[in-house]
Amino acid sequence: MEYNIAVLGGDGIGPEVTAQARRVLEAVGAAYDHRFTFREGLVGGIAIDTEGTALPDATMELCRASDAVLFGAVGGPKWDDPTAEVRPEQGLLALRKGLGLFANLRPVKLEPALIEASTIKADVLRGTDMFVLRELTGGIYFGERGRRDEGRTAFDTMIYTVPEIERVVRMACELARGRRKHVTSVDKANVLETSRLWRETATRVAREYPDVQVEHLLVDACAMHLIRRPASFDVIVTENMFGDILTDEASMLAGSMGMLPSASLAEGSMGLYEPIHGSAPDIAGQGIANPIGAILSAALLLRHSLKLEAEAQAVEQAVQNMLAEGYRTRDIAEPSAETVSTDVMGTLIAERLRA
Ligand code: IPM
Ligand code: MG
Repeated sequence: MEYNIAVLGGDGIGPEVTAQARRVLEAVGAAYDHRFTFREGLVGGIAIDTEGTALPDATMELCRASDAVLFGAVGGPKWDDPTAEVRPEQGLLALRKGLGLFANLRPVKLEPALIEASTIKADVLRGTDMFVLRELTGGIYFGERGRRDEGRTAFDTMIYTVPEIERVVRMACELARGRRKHVTSVDKANVLETSRLWRETATRVAREYPDVQVEHLLVDACAMHLIRRPASFDVIVTENMFGDILTDEASMLAGSMGMLPSASLAEGSMGLYEPIHGSAPDIAGQGIANPIGAILSAALLLRHSLKLEAEAQAVEQAVQNMLAEGYRTRDIAEPSAETVSTDVMGTLIAERLRA
């Protein structure tokens, strides 16, 4: 089959790691007889520098004309003034809204070979394997905001509608069906009205899935239980801002941010796939970034947008083998151990796939 993939490398280490993800997809193409056509687009700080906007129209059109989007990272010290009118993050937020990417899926699975890399005790971590599903186009990140009283008062608005809650909770229940059939819906229903609507709606959706057990947890308690009993979670579903915070917390369970992929999914097959780490400007251009988060994001692209499950598993297996054989980029290596570069890690994984 033929597939069109938009590649938005963005800033910092974004282009370096997406180049490796692309290389791995090319290897998948060769091994399984698919043709991938990659087309590059500008996003983030680099787009601000060259086009004056974080998401040029041409990039949006390119994404709309593609089967899926491979995304790197946006941002860096150069564009870091929070009061600036144009900011790199706007590119990502506009893409999410424009492509209808309402659900952000972050699988957090502890790589056994890296159990010592986490700051949390191995005994607590053992068996950790969860999906965090974050609502991505609603809530306080997209509500009305502003200033009044001559700038001395600021407000942000959190808004949710029933359909927005229903679709993401449904997706969580569907995902749980393919796993341990347990969903934890996270809210702050003891205080927030949006959370009360969230809980009501989640409870109603849960009735459509009698085979899935749905429990509710307050977000503050969830933050605590994530590091206390991480292995007990299967699928967590929550609203946009809670999900933003909890997914960063959950990522630490896997040892390194460099390892984790994410999928931002729309109705239908469109998706945007990005490692959860940022643009890491401090190590950009040195060839030492860990490409595994980007490569595993390419595996999610194969699975969720292209429905190529065997190919997705082959990529995941190749990554696991590489780690089991002891190959490490600097971020996941023991202090004095030998390490490989971004390029070597990507090349090794791609070679295994061709073999
Ligand atoms: C993420 C990032 C983004 C978010 C930023 C870059 C706007 O932190 O994907 O979690 O908060 O949604
Ligand atoms: Mg975040």
